Amino acid sequence: MNLEKTQERNVDEIIPEQGGIPNIVKVISFMIAMVLVFTGIANLLPQVEGEAPKDIKVDLGALTMDSYIALGETLFKGKGTCTLCHNNMGRAPDIPVMDMEATAVERLNDPDYKGVAKDSETYFRESMVDPSVYIVSGYGKPGEPSTMPAIDKAPISLSEIEMGAIIAYLQAKDGGQPSVELPTDAPAVEPKPAVVAVAPAKAAGSAEDVLAKYACTACHAVLDSPSTIGPELKLLGARSSREEIRQSIINPSAVIAPGYPPIMPGDFAEKMLVKELEMVVDFLAASKDENVIEQEQQLTEEVVTEEAATEQVVTEDAVTDQLHAEPLDTEQKGE
Ligand code: HEC
Ligand code: HEC
Repeated sequence: MNLEKTQERNVDEIIPEQGGIPNIVKVISFMIAMVLVFTGIANLLPQVEGEAPKDIKVDLGALTMDSYIALGETLFKGKGTCTLCHNNMGRAPDIPVMDMEATAVERLNDPDYKGVAKDSETYFRESMVDPSVYIVSGYGKPGEPSTMPAIDKAPISLSEIEMGAIIAYLQAKDGGQPSVELPTDAPAVEPKPAVVAVAPAKAAGSAEDVLAKYACTACHAVLDSPSTIGPELKLLGARSSREEIRQSIINPSAVIAPGYPPIMPGDFAEKMLVKELEMVVDFLAASKDENVIEQEQQLTEEVVTEEAATEQVVTEDAVTDQLHAEPLDTEQKGE
């Protein structure tokens, strides 16, 4: 009852008995009108989906072209950071609303086009890994570097598979048929180095331990492992220099061994201790034929027992030094 009275009184106060609209009503009407106008404008603007970046795991075995395209879209909006620049703010071509297949044809027919791409697939790849080859008119000066970063390099560092997914997305988003191939020849499930999860902080004591700790044996024929997912590493020293081996481990995507999928994990550089990397590089560089391996393993054991394993680093250095001093050690591998 009290409530009703209060409401009545309020209404009486606001609306006077005779003529004229009080200011307070005008103000409120104006505010409501403005809110409606702005809501209307906001609804006309394209809606941006606020998708939180998800951590993407690719199950290559179960991959279909549709899921590959979907992965590409997720990467385009998330990890790839593409929409940071490629949006309607004018900083870069507004790829989400452009017909990219038609755009690619247009670019390739541009007399100013200096790249080597032949079709949309190669044009998109080139745009991502070598953005400065061709600067879209209006977004920088030809000859000067593009403001777009090479997205296969740090910090974005997309893998071949991820770039393929983005290309599939760009080709398919306006109804086209992707020409990229599904990365099918890869293992269904990425081998997980279980040992790493158990004891991440403990440094491996030998090259063999490193190969086990980081699950190199899951993909490579090395030590006792028969795996053929990656190239065999038992005779690696015969075909690769120490520098090439180190590079293959810390930056596997720089050179992809022909005939193999680009699936070697790219994060060993962050995970491995320098000491571990050097041990495994030494070991692989020395892997030339069975005899050499056996002799060097024997040597390693001898030295370790002799020195009674005082400090790990010192011991390993001593082993390496001793190996290098041996006449058997074939340092002329660079030739
Ligand atoms: C820092 C800003 C920036 C980011 C991040 C960026 N780009 Fe770009 N991108 C540009 C600019 C600027 C251009 C136009 C200049 C040029 O051609 O290099 C461009 C051009 C392109 C083109 C050619 C477009 C056309 O109209 O021909 C493609 C394709 C492309 N980017 C794809 C991507 C993809 C895919 C990603 C994410 C993996 C990405 N970009 C991330 C700035 C960026
Ligand atoms: C998920 C599978 C996988 C794991 C795990 C893996 N690799 Fe690989 N690795 C490959 C594949 C596939 C290639 C060939 C493609 C390439 O060059 O990236 C390769 C290439 C290499 C090469 C170059 C071989 C050559 O013939 O040129 C070296 C060296 C190498 N890996 C060492 C290692 C070491 C050391 C580890 C552990 C720290 C390791 N890999 C872990 C899959 C793997």
